[in-house]
Parts: sequence; structure tokens; C-alpha cells
Amino acid sequence: MITTNSLSGPRRWALASLLGLACGAQAATETEVREFIDLAGQRAGELSLKENRAEWIFQNFITYDTQNQVVDIKKQVTLNGMATARMARDFMADGEGLSESTLRDLEMIRHKVTLPAPADEALTAELVSLGAELENIYSTGKYCNAEGDCQVLRDMSLRMANSRNEAELRELWAGWREASKPMRPLYARMVELANTGARDLGYKDLGDYWRSRFDMSSDAFAADMDRYWQEAKPLYEALQCHVGAQLEAQYGDDVMPDNGMIPAHLLGNMWAQGWANIEDVVMGGKSQAPYDLTEILEERDMSAVDMARTAEAFFSSLGFEPLPETFYERSLFTRPQDREVVCHASAWNLDDVDDLRIKMCIQRTGEEFGVVHHELGHNYYQRAYNQQDYFHRGSANVGFHEAVGDAIALSVTPEYLVKIGFLDELPASTEEAEIAQLMKTALDKVAFLPFGLIMDKWRWQVFSGEVEPANYNQAWWALREEYQGVTAPVTRTEDHFDPGAKYHIPSNVSYSRYFLAHLLQFQFHQRMCELAGFEGPLHQCSAYGSKKAGEALNTMLTAGRSAPWQDTLEAFTGDRDVDPGAMLAYFAPLKAWLDEQNADRQCGWTVN
Ligand code: ASP
Ligand code: SER
Ligand code: ZN
Repeated sequence: MITTNSLSGPRRWALASLLGLACGAQAATETEVREFIDLAGQRAGELSLKENRAEWIFQNFITYDTQNQVVDIKKQVTLNGMATARMARDFMADGEGLSESTLRDLEMIRHKVTLPAPADEALTAELVSLGAELENIYSTGKYCNAEGDCQVLRDMSLRMANSRNEAELRELWAGWREASKPMRPLYARMVELANTGARDLGYKDLGDYWRSRFDMSSDAFAADMDRYWQEAKPLYEALQCHVGAQLEAQYGDDVMPDNGMIPAHLLGNMWAQGWANIEDVVMGGKSQAPYDLTEILEERDMSAVDMARTAEAFFSSLGFEPLPETFYERSLFTRPQDREVVCHASAWNLDDVDDLRIKMCIQRTGEEFGVVHHELGHNYYQRAYNQQDYFHRGSANVGFHEAVGDAIALSVTPEYLVKIGFLDELPASTEEAEIAQLMKTALDKVAFLPFGLIMDKWRWQVFSGEVEPANYNQAWWALREEYQGVTAPVTRTEDHFDPGAKYHIPSNVSYSRYFLAHLLQFQFHQRMCELAGFEGPLHQCSAYGSKKAGEALNTMLTAGRSAPWQDTLEAFTGDRDVDPGAMLAYFAPLKAWLDEQNADRQCGWTVN
């Protein structure tokens, strides 16, 4: 018979009501706490099913009513998540006698709520409403020019990728940043409420709360992030220097500031987070890449669904079971013309078993082909860990979830494209072609790193109170300049809210995950290539068809969050830490080439 009597008054009643038990008079044992964890998992699982359904409908049909509905259910989910998290906090406080794995499970319950709410129903409702409203503003945002012609983000992004007209790029860049202005007061209030919730659970603030999810202390995690960055930085700096010089050649020195920074609108991407779209400019005005994936997809008249099927076939070649037919019936693959949807790509498992879906406004480009692999990586991971206990259904750490599909996409090599008939023959392997291929990948993966770091650095400063609402934008640009060497092309003020112009800020998706993933994916790729028996430069390796690589990957995915991520990583790659060395090894030939190009240049930048 399970009792709850070691606990004092209100906690005893709370646990009793969760467990459906009467209160007795003995100590909470390991067995009782395990029972609590099981029941908490059951209840959270039932609620999350309802939440997923309401969220799917809201994100596929953004209306006043679907928003109200999702807010309603999210309120229940948050109230339950917070009640459970507070109990976990209390069990941990008198945790002597509990096993290490039980303490770890309690910690996971405690930090599970994305936006922890104050212990008050009305404030909880306010907090979840703010979250939904921010998501709505971002996803329905448009830029309307002086003539009243309006554009959505997807079309603006495509122009940013392809236009080489500085004035047009500047207009698009500044235009999209009008849409996020109204978010500012909502964001400030949201931070205030979620900080209260985080403190109630025993954390310093929401940043401390988010950083506590990595099987180590929150401070140690922040220090590790800086350490990884220091290791990768010389490669980034070499790239930034060369790209800056090539942009100056393209646009002239009146567009380029003389402090070594790059104006943010010239890099082929709305946020200057990935620069692969300007590979032509970087390679001297004409693409040197041996093939163009966008052209191949166009020539083959590939539909969005064809792109998904091709990515699925890659996973099948590794031995993964095919996706369920419902994946194709229920996913959203293209942007509907007649309604508002959240277009930012995501992957779902609605029933936590195998109701897998993606929701994405796919464009027929090589870049988006990569994102399709990224999303499917999430789906295969979700299905692989579906046998785990509720609180272990998840990524070893959130970086792993973002790294799986990307690691697979690193195997989309010329050799692979020949194998699947997308290329007739292997392009001649000249040094130029190799460098161009590495450059294209580096513009995507290496350029991303400092952006991946500052998204959360900014939030950590905001959540801790180090940066106040009156300085939101100024603090954002200080980080952009310091870490990326990228600067705003148009004057910024505190009327603007530029962080909100990037999806993950209004939607409260932490971003360290992508920084970690950009390093981890090279470790995964390296290991899969080893298992595939590949010997040679890593950028030429494709693990396509290797059952051995697939099996090892699947073992890691199946483990979910059941063990500290360091153990899960070690079982797969042999490493116990994130190691930027794998990325550096991959790009070693490019780094040597960049150093030659930069030999006579003054590299680096100065922050005013
Ligand atoms: N590729 C997108 C991004 O990472 C969507 C995703 O993560 O699923 O934001
Ligand atoms: N998908 C993430 C983003 O869009 C990371 O690349 O920012
Ligand atoms: Zn993702």
C-alpha cells in the first residue's frame, strides 16, 4: 500500500490527490516516488495528446477560435506541469535515500515546463495567452511596402537568397523587422511571468531553468558552450574574413563598413544565420560548385512530397522502417493559399507512438531539401524512443534531436546523388570543385555557429535581468557584432524588436540546441562513416546504404533520454563530450585554403 505520509500538509495532499491515495504517516520511499513518477507520466501523457491535437489545429489554421482553444488546453497542461514540478522539487529537497536515477527523473519533471508559470490560475492563463499571441504575430506577419503590396516571410526569404540588389535586400531586411515591433511589450511581460514560475521551482531565473536540462549544472553548461565556441572560432573568423572581402568586391566599399563587419542584409539569409545562398559571390561572382541541387530538383520536377520520399528512402537504406502511410496523409507539405499557418518547419508525433508528421511550407531548393532531412530526423528519433517511459521519451539532450537529420544530410554527396540517379556521373574531382563543395557546406554550418550561440546568450541576459526591456535591441546588436562580426544595415532603435524577427524568440524554442547540433552532427557523421567502412576525406563520405551505421544510430535514438547524454553519446561515438574537433577535421582542407586567401588581408573586426 502506498502512502504519502512523510510529507507535510499541503504537499501530502497534493501528492495524495495526484496518486489518488489516502494520506498515512510513514516516509516516502524510493518505491513511492517511482509510483509518483509513473502516475505523473501517465497524466502528462494524456494531457500532451490533447495538447498536440489542439496545437496541430492551431498551427495549421490560425484563427481567433483555434487560438482560444489551444490556450485553454495549454493552461491545463501548464497547471498540471507546474503542480507536478513543484512536487518533484519537494521530493528532491528531502531526497536522501533516493537513487541517482530517481533523482534524475525528478529533475527532469522539475524542468520540463517550457514557460513555467506563477502559482496562480489567472497568471498562468495570461502567460500561455502571451505565448500563443507571440506565435500568432510571427506567423501571420507581413511586410507591406509604400504601394501597399504585402509579402510573407517565405517569399521575402526567397528574394533574400537570390537578389544581388543591395537596395532591395535592405528593404526586405528592414521590412520584415517591422512585423516584430508589436511583440516587445508582450515579450517583456512574458519574461516577468515565466521568471516568477522558474523561481518558484527553485531556479534563479528562466535562463537558469533552461540551462539546467543538460545533466550538469547550469553554470557548467554555459561555460561549456563558451569553450566549444572558442575552439571553433578560428575557422569562423577565417570564413568571415574571406566572405567580407568577396562582398566588398561585389557591392563596393561604400556598402561595407571599415570596421571589418559585414552588413546583415548581404549574406543571402534573413537573419544572416546561414550564408550558403551567396556561394556564387563568395567564389568570385560565379558558382564553382560542381552541381546545383536546386537545379536538379527543378529538372526532375520534384514535388514537395517527392522530396520527402527521397529523404525517407535514405533512412530506409540505413535499415529504418518506412514511415507510416499516415505521414503522407496528415502532414502539411506546402503553404496553403487560403489560410494562415505556422510555416516554420517542424516535426511531430501526435500520439507519441507513430502518428508522425511534418508541417512545412516546402520550397523546391537544395536548402529546403536539407531541411526535409532535418525534420525526418526528428520523426525517426520520436518513433525510436516511443517505448521509453514518458519522461525518457526525448532527445539525449535537445542538441541530439536537431543533429540527427542534419547528420544524414551530410551524406548527400555527389557519390550519393549518382547512386540515386540525380547525377549521371561523378563530377571531376578537382581541387576547385572540392573547395567549392566544402565552401557551400561551411557557409551553412560554420557561419551558423555564432548565431546559434547568441540567440540564447541574449535570452539568458534578458531572463537574468542583466538586460532590461529598454535595452532589448541594443543588447541584441552588441552580441551580433561581437560574435558574428555582422552589423545592422539600417539604424536600429528601441522601437524595434529585432530578436522577435527570428521564429524561436516569439515561439520560445531554446536555441543552444542548434549550436550543439551543428557540432554534434559532425561527430555523428564521422562515426557513421567509420561504421560504413569509409576511408578518405569526410566530406566525400556518404553513409547511404550502411546497415551497420543505421543500427548504431538507431540504438542511440532508441535510448531517448533514459541515461545522461554523455553516456548515450559515448555508446555511439566513443566521446563523452561535444567535440568541435570533428567539424574542424571535416573542414581542414577549406581552412588551409582560407588561410591562403586571407594571407594578405587584415582579418577580424572592431566593435564600436
Ligand atoms: N529547421 C528548423 C529549425 O531548426 C525547424 C526545426 O528545427 O525543426 O528551426
Ligand atoms: N532550423 C533552425 C532555424 O531555422 C536552425 O537551422 O533557425
Ligand atoms: Zn529541428
